[in-house]
Amino acid sequence: MGHMPSLPNDLPPLDVTPGPRRAEPLPADRPVRWGIVSTGKIATAFVKDLALLDDCEVAAVGARRQESADAFAAEHGIARAYGDYRALVADPDVDVVYVGTPHSLHREHVELAFDAGKPVLCEKALTLTAADAQALVDRARAENLFLMEAMWMRCQPLVRRLRQLVHAGALGAVRQVRADLGFVVDRPPTDRLLDPALGGGALLDMGIYPLTFASLFLGEPATVSATASLSESGVDLNLAVGLGYESGAVAALTASMTSWSPRSASIATDVGRIDLPAPFHHPTTVTWTPLVGDPDFDVPPAPRELKDEAPLGVGYTHEAREVVRCLRNGETESPLVPLDDTVALMRQMDRIRELVGVRYPADATAHDRAPAG
Ligand SMILES: NC(=O)c1ccc[n+]([C@@H]2O[C@H](COP(=O)([O-])OP(=O)(O)OC[C@H]3O[C@@H](n4cnc5c(N)ncnc54)[C@H](OP(=O)(O)O)[C@@H]3O)[C@@H](O)[C@H]2O)c1
Repeated sequence: MGHMPSLPNDLPPLDVTPGPRRAEPLPADRPVRWGIVSTGKIATAFVKDLALLDDCEVAAVGARRQESADAFAAEHGIARAYGDYRALVADPDVDVVYVGTPHSLHREHVELAFDAGKPVLCEKALTLTAADAQALVDRARAENLFLMEAMWMRCQPLVRRLRQLVHAGALGAVRQVRADLGFVVDRPPTDRLLDPALGGGALLDMGIYPLTFASLFLGEPATVSATASLSESGVDLNLAVGLGYESGAVAALTASMTSWSPRSASIATDVGRIDLPAPFHHPTTVTWTPLVGDPDFDVPPAPRELKDEAPLGVGYTHEAREVVRCLRNGETESPLVPLDDTVALMRQMDRIRELVGVRYPADATAHDRAPAG
């Protein structure tokens, strides 16, 4: 038998190494007060998860219409409701703004919060284009304002644990990553998922998770290839992406709005395989199967389960905790969700859209709006 790495028994804590203090820390003796921009599906899920955290409080909600804000506030027990996002971000009792609008509006709504001097957690994808993402990041850095993309997968305890083990070399050298996210989208063409003006398509909504997953374990790809079927309106419905790395590793990633795809992921190394069953992007189970010999003839050892803290709520609590940690420490960028990684991912998605022929109205102006240099 060759060398078969097994999971270490005593794992170090998943502490975040704090970043530099660039902003005035929020006081530690009271809950962090959130202001919620929009009353859609994800805003609802996020607010429900926030309710599980003692040191968080939803102070106010803003919607395009007063009635929507009132209904959302009543349902979730929120003290103040605004029929206007600008009034929400201006509320002096809002410490941090959560943006849950469609991708195409993220830049505008993050800037609105920045105009009011507020830190922001913004839903994924941060923007439609890398140029827009870079513009937000540049402004956040210039004004020492906290900004984080709500890429909650990066904050999941099991994902962080897996990354720690893989980066320590404990499970061998990563040769292949496979990951998928999708579901059948049966909605009217005006829905944000299908409307190019709102940044519709499988890539920015679902594909961003497999792509981020690959980047967590393999870094920046050297080559990108992609194929997709498009809707009549020109957004990607069913997508496959192939990434190649200088190490010789490859990643095969898919995203779909037309199929009940597996929503799982695997990482194959030279000494075994890691499996993340559905939903891989907020996993409750991760297994490690060490392998030697020929799988057609040799019986592999039983998979071993990787244990860590179970996700709290649906799992949005972990990104919220990281925001709270940063704000209480005066940090303006989370080391768990680095802004440069967010922009690098947006650049990959720009390239993939170019390869499959998906163009958004914002592409025409993104270049003009990009900062010089
Ligand atoms: N992290 C995750 O797991 C996750 C899951 C789903 C979605 N998301 C992200 O969250 C964002 C929103 O997705 P969602 O599924 O929550 O969408 P949704 O249910 O359609 O809600 C979007 C909300 O944005 C507001 N909005 C403002 N201007 C709008 C416009 N012109 N058209 C449509 N809505 C507009 C609306 O709120 P008001 O009218 O109340 O102001 C609406 O309720 C997307 O960027 C998506 O990628 C993240």
